[in-house]
Amino acid sequence: MRVIVCKDYNEMSEKAFEVMKDVITKNPKAVLGLATGSSPEGLYKCMVRDHEENGTSYQDITTYNLDEYVGLPKNHPESYYTFMHKNLFDHIDIKEENTHLPSGSTQEEADTYEKQWDAVTCDLQLLGIGRNGHIGFNEPGTPFAQTTHIVDLTPSTIEANSRFFDHDINKVPKQAISMGIGSILKAKKILLVASGAEKADAVKAMIEGPATESCPASALQKHDDVVVVLDQAAAAGL
Ligand code: GLP
Repeated sequence: MRVIVCKDYNEMSEKAFEVMKDVITKNPKAVLGLATGSSPEGLYKCMVRDHEENGTSYQDITTYNLDEYVGLPKNHPESYYTFMHKNLFDHIDIKEENTHLPSGSTQEEADTYEKQWDAVTCDLQLLGIGRNGHIGFNEPGTPFAQTTHIVDLTPSTIEANSRFFDHDINKVPKQAISMGIGSILKAKKILLVASGAEKADAVKAMIEGPATESCPASALQKHDDVVVVLDQAAAAGL
C-alpha cells in the first residue's frame, strides 16, 4: 500500500484527484468504481472543476458505484443515485447510460450487478472507509471473497449515517445492496480516501493490523496496487 498523508481534507482531495486524473488521462475510456459519503465529495469537486476549466471529458468513461440503500426510491434526496448526480454526474459530460449503481433488494439482483461488473475491467476503484473499517457496506465479518450482496447494516453504521436522515435512526434504511470485498479487489487499482480523527482506528487496523475479516478494509493488504490518501487526523494512529 502506498500511503500519502496530507495536512487537511482539501489537500487530501487534491492528491486523490491527481491519482484519478492520471488514470483518466492515460485511458479516456477508463472504467471507474465510485463511492459515496463525505470522504470523496472533495475529490468530486476537483473533477468538476477540472472538467469546467480544462475540458477533461467523461464522454467515454464508464462508472459503477459500490452500493445503494435498499428501499429508498432513486430520487430520494439521500439515495446514492441522487448523491452521485448532485455531486458529480450532473456537472460533467458523462453519459447517463454509462453510469451504473446497484439497486434492488434480492440476491438475484445483486448477482446481476456482479455479472455486469465481471464483464468489465475496473481501472480505478475509489473507496472511503467506515469508522468500523467497512468498505462499501461490507461490515466486519464479511468474507474477503464476498461478491455483491444484500447487507444488514450494523447499529454503528446506522448511527453514523443518521446524520443524513435528520439524526433519526428510524429513518435510516436497515439494509443496503453492496459490492463485496471480492468485487472490490477485482479492480486494477484502488484509491482510498479518509479524513478525520474518527477514522484513525480503522485506518490503523487497515494498514498495520492483520488482514482479518473483523476489519474489512484490511483485505486491501491483499491487493498489489492500493493508494491510501489520508489527512493528518486520520493518520494519527500510524
Ligand atoms: C458509508 C458508505 C461507505 C463510506 C462510509 C464512510 O456507510 N457506504 O461507502 O465509505 O460509510 O462515509 P463517510 O465518507 O461519509 O465518512
